[in-house]
Amino acid sequence: MEDYILPFWIYLAVLTVIVAGALKKVLACHVSATPTLVAWLGATVLVERLWTFCLPAILLVTVVLAVAFYLCCRSSSSPAIMLSAQGKAVFITGCDSGFGKAAAKCLDALGFEVFATVLDLSGEGARELQRTCSGHLTIFQVDITQPQQVQQALLDTKAKLGLRGLWGLVNNAGVCVNFGDAELSLMSNYRGCMEVNFFGTLSVTKSFLPLLRQAKGRIVTISSPAGDQPFPCLAAYGASKAALNLFINTLRHELDRWGVRVSIILPSSYKTGQSSNHTYWEQQYKNLLQNVPPALLEEYGEDYMNETKELFQSHARQATEDFSPVINAIVQALLSPQPQVRYYAGPGIGFMYFINSYCPFSIRDRFLQKLFVKKELLPRALRKQAGFDISLNNNNNNNNNEEKLMQ
Ligand SMILES: *[C@@H]1O[C@H](CO)[C@@H](O)[C@H](O)[C@H]1NC(C)=O
Ligand SMILES: *[C@@H]1O[C@H](CO)[C@@H](O)[C@H](O)[C@H]1NC(C)=O
Repeated sequence: MEDYILPFWIYLAVLTVIVAGALKKVLACHVSATPTLVAWLGATVLVERLWTFCLPAILLVTVVLAVAFYLCCRSSSSPAIMLSAQGKAVFITGCDSGFGKAAAKCLDALGFEVFATVLDLSGEGARELQRTCSGHLTIFQVDITQPQQVQQALLDTKAKLGLRGLWGLVNNAGVCVNFGDAELSLMSNYRGCMEVNFFGTLSVTKSFLPLLRQAKGRIVTISSPAGDQPFPCLAAYGASKAALNLFINTLRHELDRWGVRVSIILPSSYKTGQSSNHTYWEQQYKNLLQNVPPALLEEYGEDYMNETKELFQSHARQATEDFSPVINAIVQALLSPQPQVRYYAGPGIGFMYFINSYCPFSIRDRFLQKLFVKKELLPRALRKQAGFDISLNNNNNNNNNEEKLMQ
């Protein structure tokens, strides 16, 4: 019996994958699930039959495939065959702080000619870049939501490049202006996120595309898992990143024939921009309290909103400070001969996407709730209702008792 323990576990694993795949298919297409289900069940039975007859052959094929895959991964991620940065120009947005500033420094050190945009030319970030980087780095002050500033940056870049094209565009600039229930978020929060994350990035990308096509270059966009998965309390930010993802994904196949490669980077949670700026979030919270309609404030309760804000701030304080996974992904996307479509950068992100891809919606939702903000308070109106229900139940119980007594 003991001889069969290993094959049994392998068998169980294969079966689990197949059954999970079938479940996923069924859950994904509510309407025409029956043919898919039948096909998957057929495949399951077939695998089971094959299993008993040719176990050694299957094991051998599995091992050979695994080894081939491993060798393939090793050679494609090997730094030896990276392209050279010499003579290549890269334009990066949002370099005041966070990923942008770190990437600008790193790309400059690798030998790229870097054009870095900042919001504030006299700010700490811009001064640090000027101090620490080579003479091949140029800083522009650009608010990407202002089309004339983007056009000016394009003219200035062209003036520097002469007849050369642009090898890389790193779309990094982005904001998260609010955190809270979708119903409590202001229209200005939704528009603020869209304005920068979607329309701003769109405007920069469209403007620089002729230069990128000329060089058969790369577009690297920093997005967020919040654009793929419904994180609670991040509706405004997530929706803007979802729009951005769709735009970039569409570009990917349209630009393929031009030789421009397009990648998206999906970082886990990092301390960037204002994410861990206590003053900033207190200000945003005050602004929200002042502008949310009184009836909503009454129904949700200020204590509920305060808890959300506190939970978010404590989550932001625990975020990762070492940006290297994201910066490495940017470099890979710019210099690998075969850049990936997506780079998952940071601790836990692969697992998060695994849950999101293979589990039913109920488990995915619960996972995101547990992972992100563990709210304890209910909105005020629901607490009242719960209290009311409890007292109703008590009354019912009393009635039942009375009835019994009467019988
Ligand atoms: C934090 O936010 C406040 C208010 O928006 C801002 O004045 C301040 O410069 C920010 N601090 C940093 C370090 O960015
Ligand atoms: C908000 O929540 C924090 C932490 O739970 C608490 O210390 C603080 O007193 C609360 N503030 C208000 C105004 O309720």
